[in-house]
Amino acid sequence: ATYNIGYIVGSLAKNSINRTLAHALIGLAPANLSFTEIPIKDLPLYNYDYDENYPPEGTALKRAIEGSDGLLIVSPEYNRSIPGGLKNAIDWASRPWGTNSFARKPTGIIGASPGAIGTAVMQSSMRSVLSFLNVPQLNAPEAYVHYDAGAFDAQGNVTDARTREFLQHYIDEYAAFVERVLDTGAAGHI
Ligand code: FNR
Repeated sequence: ATYNIGYIVGSLAKNSINRTLAHALIGLAPANLSFTEIPIKDLPLYNYDYDENYPPEGTALKRAIEGSDGLLIVSPEYNRSIPGGLKNAIDWASRPWGTNSFARKPTGIIGASPGAIGTAVMQSSMRSVLSFLNVPQLNAPEAYVHYDAGAFDAQGNVTDARTREFLQHYIDEYAAFVERVLDTGAAGHI
């Protein structure tokens, strides 16, 4: 089967290394996955006053998530946690109460940092948040990417063989996970 995957880059920066990582993963992904970016940068800051009348950016975010078969979150770590812009997007998509757009969407979490632990603490926080939102998550392999600019070229190709093999394994396992969740009808119970 073929699946459309919505990917969210947790960074709003122009030269985001996590966007480079997202492009590299897309380049390595099996042909039965197609990828569309779900943008988060124009969302206002969420509060529940918006629940009466969601702005177009909030509604577009919810529809994009609901229309995806699976999700891939590629994010930096900010101060050992989830970047504010990404947490804000998650809050938008989770509301109004009773309309959580994330529910049962098979999701992968990955991130890159120039630092040694490669977003491990952000990913750990993210897993708690997504568990609360009833999101089946790829548990293994984990991928904490220590970003080395020399391993990627400007087109998003992975020029370092070890990094390429590692990311290839991750995205192949991600594809198998999405297929398993959707084809067994077990979404939400993985
Ligand atoms: C960072 N950075 C960072 N790195 C890390 O590994 N752990 C952390 O907790 C933090 N904290 C942090 C806070 C803030 C406010 C900034 C701006 C940066 C460094 C971060 O990994 C680096 O800037 C990456 O380039 C961010 O990824 P993008 O935006 O390039 O995709």
